[in-house]
Amino acid sequence: MELKDYPLRLRTSFRIGGPAERFVEPETEEELRRALVSAAERGDPVRALGGGKNLLVDDRGVEGLVVAFSRLKGMTFRGPTVLVGAGTSLAALLRQSVVRGLSGLEGMAGVPGTVGGAVRMNAGGAHGAIGSRVRWVRGLDRDGKAFRFGRDACGFVYRGSSLGGLFVTEVCLDLEPGRDDVAAQVDEIYRRKRTSQPLSAASAGCTFKNPGLPGGESAGWLLDQVGLKGMQRGDAEFSVLHANFILNRGAARCTDVEWLIREGRRRVYDHYGLDLALEVEVWRRGDN
Ligand code: EPU
Repeated sequence: MELKDYPLRLRTSFRIGGPAERFVEPETEEELRRALVSAAERGDPVRALGGGKNLLVDDRGVEGLVVAFSRLKGMTFRGPTVLVGAGTSLAALLRQSVVRGLSGLEGMAGVPGTVGGAVRMNAGGAHGAIGSRVRWVRGLDRDGKAFRFGRDACGFVYRGSSLGGLFVTEVCLDLEPGRDDVAAQVDEIYRRKRTSQPLSAASAGCTFKNPGLPGGESAGWLLDQVGLKGMQRGDAEFSVLHANFILNRGAARCTDVEWLIREGRRRVYDHYGLDLALEVEVWRRGDN
């Protein structure tokens, strides 16, 4: 069922964002196909919503259709290979892999969001990104036409892929069997993250991509050096725990977060001559 003027702040971990003009949460690929075809006929832009954990939405909301993937979920293990519905949470997938002693997804410990979203942005961290585990992805394009791409056709790069604008419904991942220390490793990675990142606050995770400097200096370190920890604008605030996280302390608006983003970028540019790129996805009205 299609909803009108659905408040997107309810679906983002930032708790920020105005309404989607139309909102649909398909249970089957066929339902998704029909929604895409109708949107194409109307000439409406379509945006894909995964877990909403890495997303900043315009206070004015967005025009056209938003498709949520939360109902397209499920996992089927065949030995060390797993078929996963795009709307499955990464945490659930990681849990089931650990139970089976399958390794390869340890780097997803503490990473929120859905499998589809994670694949589209090649989510990960110091312990690897999800793209390296992909055998293939399948789904529908904007016009509702089916596609299936092997890993090499997905264009995985650091925190990105060439899957933008496509609607991934299912992913096939190759894991590795026979390891009995996976659970301990996952626990350790998660424990370290909990002490260095504000995981329970309303936020969209890391704001900027790491710039890939030869010395390995991270975006968080650079933002920390230029004094941004604790800086506020309205209810938005650079975390005092990790400067690459912006938190919503209550009723922060998208414009508050964008102000902090500009300030962070400006200070790092002034001090280091470096232009940080956004890691968070931003949906602006009229952008699509
Ligand atoms: N640091 C500071 N001050 C800060 C923040 C960090 O000095 O305010 C220093 C840390 O002490 C550390 C270094 O910067 O020496 C790197 O920090 P961290 O280990 O937290 O890793 P990161 O590079 O900031 C990356 C990913 C995270 C992922 C972690 C752990 C990016 C942009 N960030 O963070 O991903 O969780 O590694 O694997 O690639 C996300 O994508 O939303 C995210 C949080």
